[in-house]
Amino acid sequence: MREIMDCTGDAIKKAALALKDGHLVAFPTETVYGLGADPTNESAVSRIYSVKDRPADHPVIVHVPSIESLEIWAKEIPTFALKLANEFWPGPMTLILKRSNFVQDYITGGQENVGVRIPSNPTALKLLEEFQSIGGTGIAAPSANRFGAVSPTTAKAVEAELGFFLSPDDLILNGGQSLIGVESTIIDCIDFPPSILRPGAITIEMIEMAVGRSVESKVQAIKAPGLFKSHYSPKALVRLGKHALPGDGFIALESVPTPFGAHRLATPVNVDEYAKKLYYALRLADELGIKTVVALPPEGAGLAEAIRDRLNKASNG
Ligand code: TXA
Ligand code: MG
Repeated sequence: MREIMDCTGDAIKKAALALKDGHLVAFPTETVYGLGADPTNESAVSRIYSVKDRPADHPVIVHVPSIESLEIWAKEIPTFALKLANEFWPGPMTLILKRSNFVQDYITGGQENVGVRIPSNPTALKLLEEFQSIGGTGIAAPSANRFGAVSPTTAKAVEAELGFFLSPDDLILNGGQSLIGVESTIIDCIDFPPSILRPGAITIEMIEMAVGRSVESKVQAIKAPGLFKSHYSPKALVRLGKHALPGDGFIALESVPTPFGAHRLATPVNVDEYAKKLYYALRLADELGIKTVVALPPEGAGLAEAIRDRLNKASNG
């Protein structure tokens, strides 16, 4: 078992030193847990890829402690992007910006753009500040799951997901359950108006309000079901709808009754709670050995859109 450390000041100091020494640190954020490495250490970043079994051309997000430290990673930052940054950071939003000359190909998968985010989770911020105080420039971190699998929203889920692949010097910081439960909104700020690449808790309406015009959604639809490895997927098969058979897992808002004989995995009272419990419920299905999960996605705008996006991808089996 990997050591799971509670987020005391000492633990955060130890974690910052581990990053400095080229080890990996899984840490809580308000969206999901991240698997962090020093972005200036190529071999540490390459270990993220091997631990996750992730293809090398997938760029990683760089987490930074402040808007000032953004300048290290991005250049020619447009005014509207700074507006979004000031409005929604620290928070569940990733901005895709033109990369600075400092940024290496192993961070961006060779792309000329870089994804940057300031998380709002207090432990994540403290870790970023602590790492900065010993010379760190940010933390590269994808979600702390194996490629294609469900993102972890607890330290225990990180251990279950990656414990086998981590080294004795890597660390897991325990910051309790992630507040939001689905990954950050990704906004492509290369052109104006910006476009949304992944929906999240910073909603299209909030973004439009901040930039003062309508923005486009470029959220990738599933082109050919079955052809691509699914994402956000548990071992169980995920089907969308409300008709479950006895023995199936079932996820829906509290207002929807459980079909006869189905195993209720989550009973969220509203959309926020749906997002918070979704990945936990999908993991629970696997723990219980459930073969099929039927999920009824919530309707409407805002965070419901992010839930539908993840469930659509999870059901692409
Ligand atoms: O909420 C989150 O964003 C979490 C926490 C840990 O911060 N992180 C996360 O990272 O979800 P990851 O790597 O699992 O998902 C980030 C997505 C990937 O699909 C990646 O391809 C995309 O962001 N991405 C990163 N940098 C990019 C770039 N320069 N251009 C386009 N897409 C990028
Ligand atoms: Mg991910």
